[in-house]
Amino acid sequence: MPARVAVLVSGGGTNLQAILDFNSERGSLAASEVVLVASNRSSAGGLDRARAADIAAEVFDSTDDGSSLMALLTSCNVSLVVLAGYLKRLPASVVKAYHRRIINIHPGLLPEFGGAGMYGSRVHAAVLEAGVTTTGVTAHFVDDEFDHGPRIAEWRVPVQPGDTVESLAARVLAVEHLMYPRIVDLVASLNERDFFADF
Ligand code: GRF
Repeated sequence: MPARVAVLVSGGGTNLQAILDFNSERGSLAASEVVLVASNRSSAGGLDRARAADIAAEVFDSTDDGSSLMALLTSCNVSLVVLAGYLKRLPASVVKAYHRRIINIHPGLLPEFGGAGMYGSRVHAAVLEAGVTTTGVTAHFVDDEFDHGPRIAEWRVPVQPGDTVESLAARVLAVEHLMYPRIVDLVASLNERDFFADF
């Protein structure tokens, strides 16, 4: 049985789309099935992508103690939560209930280029400002601090001479689309076997 996944989005949802496309290509071999897409923003483009794929698309109150999100996750019998451009901190109650069952993708290397306020183009601007020659994509488990839980995988990406925030963002996002669906598949298959239970 594929793991039942909820994807949380705040924006356009291109990573959500990459996961949906990957799973449909894998067919019955996919280790996960997206059963819910949820957002703190009713205008999030990711919700339209979910509706187009016939997946439940819900908006929840991200300012409460976590009970509205927990109610959604429970009603859909979700076993793995995937953050894909979700910009709010998750309440401690949700992090506790889904220990090692929540993952995130970050468009930079951690911990150097992460933390509160480090999202989207700000990450790439900080990378250019620091003058480093390598950036990357990091997938990690989520705890109740921004960009903080144990890292699962890191994919390094070169910074090229003349790069702008936009050119770097595009190179990094293309790697996210390649990497995240495979990370979701891996974590889903291992979680089903309680691989991360003591971790
Ligand atoms: C991605 O860069 C992801 O790393 C970050 O937010 C962005 C989401 O993009 N957490 P999209 O909504 O998946 O297009």
